[in-house]
Amino acid sequence: MNAPQFPNDLVRDVAKRRTFAIVSHPDAGKTTLTEKLLLYGGAIQMAGTVKARKSSRHATSDWMEVEKQRGISVTSSVMQFEYAGNTINLLDTPGHQDFSEDTYRVLTVVDAAVMVIDAAKGVEERTIKLLEVCRLRSTPIITFVNKMDREVRSPVALLEEIESVLKIDCAPITWPIGMGKSFRGVFHLLNDRLMRFAPGEERRSDDTEMIEGLANPQLDALYPDEVGALRSDIELIRGASSPFDLEMFLAGMQTPVFFGSGINNFGVQEILQALVEWAPPPQPRDGTARIVHPAEAGFSGFVFKIQANMDPKHRDRIAFVRVCSGRYQPGIKVEHLRLGREMKIGSALTFMANERVASEDAVAGDIIGIHNHGQLQIGDTLTSGDVLQFKGIPYFAPELFREARPRDPFKAKQLQKGLQELGEEGAIQVMERAGTNTLLLGAVGPLQFEIVAQRLQTEYKVDAIYDTTDIQTARWLTFPDELTRRNFEREQAARMAKDVDDNSVFLSPNKYTLQVTMERWPKVEFRTTREHGQRIAS
Ligand code: G4P
Repeated sequence: MNAPQFPNDLVRDVAKRRTFAIVSHPDAGKTTLTEKLLLYGGAIQMAGTVKARKSSRHATSDWMEVEKQRGISVTSSVMQFEYAGNTINLLDTPGHQDFSEDTYRVLTVVDAAVMVIDAAKGVEERTIKLLEVCRLRSTPIITFVNKMDREVRSPVALLEEIESVLKIDCAPITWPIGMGKSFRGVFHLLNDRLMRFAPGEERRSDDTEMIEGLANPQLDALYPDEVGALRSDIELIRGASSPFDLEMFLAGMQTPVFFGSGINNFGVQEILQALVEWAPPPQPRDGTARIVHPAEAGFSGFVFKIQANMDPKHRDRIAFVRVCSGRYQPGIKVEHLRLGREMKIGSALTFMANERVASEDAVAGDIIGIHNHGQLQIGDTLTSGDVLQFKGIPYFAPELFREARPRDPFKAKQLQKGLQELGEEGAIQVMERAGTNTLLLGAVGPLQFEIVAQRLQTEYKVDAIYDTTDIQTARWLTFPDELTRRNFEREQAARMAKDVDDNSVFLSPNKYTLQVTMERWPKVEFRTTREHGQRIAS
């Protein structure tokens, strides 16, 4: 990191960045934790700010509402705040109805993730999927087991479930004493002290009372009936659980686990501390031609998300760029490598907790927003001259499908054009079924279809019909040779499609058919992701 060839100011500033996301199943407590983290960082002054946004997201999804939601989510997509001398970038992972491919893609951009588990429910379905995505880049995960102020499952059973379902080793850092009404607090296994729980939404974590040492007579005085069990539990857990191992954490193989209660602001400071102390600063990234170091002088970054702006008439969009090296400053000139031309970035946006402001300065790990009219697409690389193409910003195999056809058959061209553009923006995936001209839309969240339908109507003036299909799963195919391709495509003609970049896609009505086909064709690769803007070589 401190290699002498890198400018000192960049080495210093990059080391202070932490870029992370929170992954959880809906209702586990992501919004609550986000809010408490922002309160900590002084980014918001009042509890309720983030929650208010969330409730407006739950509003009905007529066109204006969808527009409003998109406006809101532009500002809340990235939240930057300061903590203990570090600049923290918290990237939102849209959940609930606004769950979409963006949620997955955000996870390929961050350097760490905080996983929130509802202690009463354990590992839930959405969390499993999101962790699979984190695993693509071996992202380090910090676990927060939330809602300990309720009657929940046994902490040992929860850790066993995390280990067996998510295939990640757990290293408890704090251990809960009781739960629900008899929740007394957590014992910090590394610092050897009890942190006493006190309820209250408005309390501050730094008011937490600490009792040093397990043998402390204060514990006997405070918890005469429970102290025996408390001591033996802690001894047991110390002996039985894995010790925290920084290397394993950084390799994404072990997760430090914290217990707490987000709503009571209990255990939140420990999460921030773990982020600052253990989570990695921006790492070198694969730029195809070479590995790019975050403290290099030359600017580089890539687009991972496009957000259509409020005014549909202008088709004006904001491209979210993760800076990978160098320094952004207003007026910087960059090379747009896909288009092969220079772009001047006059005024990029930076995203604070509740506002967006003009960015004055951004380094690796930071996110800047660039206004554009469609020149920027997901996966595009911008540099100050180097020919690079950042990898690892994939498309994800859709899980929900609809067939689109125009109500007015003369509007087929407009429909195609609209879908092509919305596809490039990442709003939806578009495929064409072999031999049918049928346009197949693929999504991972149901609201994606609704947004696309409304945008097609208002921006492209196409009213379309969206039929349900019998397809449940799609995979991108890579063939070992041309002959295998032809044979496969002949045999599976009814299940073939092409995506917008002309890649072959296999469509399956269920997991079983997919499994059988994969077994029948062992040399064909069935992929769940593909890189943006790249044809899969076969
Ligand atoms: P999400 O973003 O992951 O969907 O979850 P969110 O934070 O909105 O939390 C979901 C529900 O869980 C909320 O209750 C929230 O107050 C509650 N919650 C979050 N953390 C804790 C905790 O530590 N303990 C307890 N007991 N509850 C917690 P809600 O009734 O759905 O909403 P609200 O009326 O409280 O806003």
